[in-house]
Amino acid sequence: MSDSIIRIPEEEIRRQQGFADAFAALPGRPETYYIVTYGCQMNAHDSEKLAGILESMGMRPAGDKREADLVMHNTCCIRDNAERKALGNVTWLKEVRRERPQMLIGVCGCMVQEPGMAEKLLKQYPFVDIAFGTGNMHEVPEMLCRVVTERKRVVSVPQNESTVAEGLPIRRQSDIQAYLTIMYGCNNYCTYCIVPYVRGRERSRASSDILREAEVLRNSGVREVMLLGQNVNSYGASGGDMTFPQLLDHVAALGIPRIRFMTSHPKDLSDELIRVMADRPNIMRHFHLPVQSGSNAILKAMNRRYTREKYLERLSALRAAMPDIGVTSDLIVAFPGETDGDFEDTLSLTAQARYDSAFTFIYSPRTGTPAAAMPGQIPPDVASRRIAKLIEVQEKNTAAAFESMLGQTVNVLVTDRSRRGKDEMTGKCERNISVNFPGCDSDIGRILPIRITAASHTTLRGEKIGTA
Ligand code: 5AD
Ligand code: SF4
Repeated sequence: MSDSIIRIPEEEIRRQQGFADAFAALPGRPETYYIVTYGCQMNAHDSEKLAGILESMGMRPAGDKREADLVMHNTCCIRDNAERKALGNVTWLKEVRRERPQMLIGVCGCMVQEPGMAEKLLKQYPFVDIAFGTGNMHEVPEMLCRVVTERKRVVSVPQNESTVAEGLPIRRQSDIQAYLTIMYGCNNYCTYCIVPYVRGRERSRASSDILREAEVLRNSGVREVMLLGQNVNSYGASGGDMTFPQLLDHVAALGIPRIRFMTSHPKDLSDELIRVMADRPNIMRHFHLPVQSGSNAILKAMNRRYTREKYLERLSALRAAMPDIGVTSDLIVAFPGETDGDFEDTLSLTAQARYDSAFTFIYSPRTGTPAAAMPGQIPPDVASRRIAKLIEVQEKNTAAAFESMLGQTVNVLVTDRSRRGKDEMTGKCERNISVNFPGCDSDIGRILPIRITAASHTTLRGEKIGTA
């Protein structure tokens, strides 16, 4: 790792374990926890880390948040509605606490690291007992000890954003699929995005730490590993000791049946990465490649550092090397200054890109980001019309992609019963599309060849053709 990235010293991790042991021995301490998670996969994985820490303190999960002694809200602040939802739910819990005064209410994650939010929580949310950011979760044992023994509120955000903590316990949600963080933070500063301000600057984990974790996962029988980072392609540029394609190749060589990764920035999608993917059949044939806009003027104003033409060229390179690859995207409509012509460019790019699916968002101004202060903010009615049109175009893409898969046999990692009940199973194919099929619980955890027989709006249906 480069000099400016600070690995939290092992003594500090041990010191926190001391607090965890002390907490476990406290008479009358909180016994159970419940974590409400908002937002992306990074947050879902942070919740697994938080659960690991809480369990190392002797706590156990509660089945229902109304019955938990500690309710943590792991928040997202990427758009205004994510933030409002989290704060609304935190406030609602205040009422529940009237009946269970011993309940502790906590807030953590991205929202807490928004500039000014810690002060706001202290002043306007006096019922919040504990709040901390994404960068100081390893201090939870010490913070919770203080909350319980000193009966004080603790609101703390990291002093240094350049740290990486290793050796913390993780309580994983699934023994079939696992998240593995390879890098934290983001340096891209897209002008609409708050992530670089709340998750800090880019910092990569050492490849030896990542490979060790991947090996443990493989040995425990995990079927699929998802490598996580805000911009995995810049692994190495931010302190890692190899490039992302090299790291991916090493992880794939460990023999885990399925590897995925997310998210990638189009400007960093190299030929080397495409080559590694094409050479390794256990790297899944799915690429999430957020384009955000199809207009060069808007891409420039967003500081995305690629053009529409460059993006489409990268897409062609991906498909030339792996014709069966599924591509997905994120798109924003109504970015400040977006004209009808710019929006038409987004529609035409979306049609041309033939995405399997896309997350579509209305631009949401985030205080402190450059775009929030740009002229030409778009009225909500125009934004709603635009997103409806965009969804329509993307739905056609999805229908065409699904149609082309009818009759094909795809490999599905079976993860659950489907919502239809116990005789129908569900899982994802290599392209990351959900596939449902008649099956039984013993299929769960297996990778099965399924022949696609029908398609609905968002899922494929099929039938087993044998056992892999
Ligand atoms: N408004 C709307 N969408 C946003 N995203 C990020 N910031 C904003 C914002 N301010 C979207 C981008 C990104 C995805 C995770 O969220 O499309 O890729
Ligand atoms: Fe946000 Fe852009 Fe970084 Fe993605 S790459 S997290 S959109 S700043």
